[in-house]
Amino acid sequence: MPQNLEKTKSPAIDGKGIEALRTKIDQRLEEHFNAVGPDSRLGCAIRHGLLSPGKRIRPLMTLLACRQSGADEDCAIDAACAVEMVHAASLIMDDLPSMDDARLRRGALATHVVFGEGAAMLAAIALLNESFRLLTLGADISAEAKLRAVDHLSRSIGVEGLAGGQERDIACGKYAPGNVSLKEMEKRHLEKTGALFAAAAAIGGEIAGANPKTIEMLFEYGKNLGLAYQAFDDVIDVSCSEEQAGKDVDQDCEKSTVVSLLGADGAKVLGERRLARAIECARKASKTDASPLADLALLVGAKFGAMTTA
Ligand code: IPE
Ligand code: IPE
Ligand code: MG
Ligand code: MG
Ligand code: MG
Repeated sequence: MPQNLEKTKSPAIDGKGIEALRTKIDQRLEEHFNAVGPDSRLGCAIRHGLLSPGKRIRPLMTLLACRQSGADEDCAIDAACAVEMVHAASLIMDDLPSMDDARLRRGALATHVVFGEGAAMLAAIALLNESFRLLTLGADISAEAKLRAVDHLSRSIGVEGLAGGQERDIACGKYAPGNVSLKEMEKRHLEKTGALFAAAAAIGGEIAGANPKTIEMLFEYGKNLGLAYQAFDDVIDVSCSEEQAGKDVDQDCEKSTVVSLLGADGAKVLGERRLARAIECARKASKTDASPLADLALLVGAKFGAMTTA
């Protein structure tokens, strides 16, 4: 591990602490969705796509950004769930036959494989819309902070976010790998992955009432962690089994990716560079020496490092 990625001596949060927060997120998501359309195909499709065991990295970022900015992370639990709902919607759509045409997700069959394409698309639409309702909850959160959260989340889904990046991703299969520059590649990654990561961190800061400079740094943290995440994910696609990844692998062989551009080792180096920058931003965004967001980035790096080392 490069020197700048070395662990802090006494982390603000460790694997156990992360696990406890993950449980909180899962419980809240279940509370929100257990009673939604209990007998309907749509309700079942939503629960299948959302409640399946994901890593919950994005909502963890929201909670830890809130904590790191000086507020009780419980204030941000509904916003964190909103972020995870957007992510779940993006995965449901990403797996559709008209997109990546994947059959496995989170160790189970993809939503459209179980419920059909129509129900899967509607589940994604319902999740996206419901996510904004969750951002309006929380009596202790100011209307201004909620509005800024809505602004961050909606931008992360739009033309300069998920939708734009995913469209570029579909189109990139048309070009020979060598024809895409690293700059273009990272622009796509920033849109399809980094934008939601950035929003996740910024929203946590907004809920805690962080100042604009801190929000900007949280945003930079999210962007860089998202870029690292997608670079590592592209390595996983070429180096892990379906069982290890819990999803289809060898998905990107006809696409230009950071792996086709830099090779697997080069992509890992890029991921580590982005991770190091994310950690630097997390520490700058913190008023104290401790930064739970930096610790989260280190845990992400360790997990992906282990998965991508043969
Ligand atoms: C998968 O995200 C999509 C990418 C941006 C690489 P995650 O790896 O966070 O997926 P889950 O939520 O843990 O299943
Ligand atoms: C997807 O990237 C990014 C999203 C916004 C969903 P991938 O297509 O590489 O994600 P996986 O590998 O299917 O999870
Ligand atoms: Mg994809
Ligand atoms: Mg995919
Ligand atoms: Mg992938």
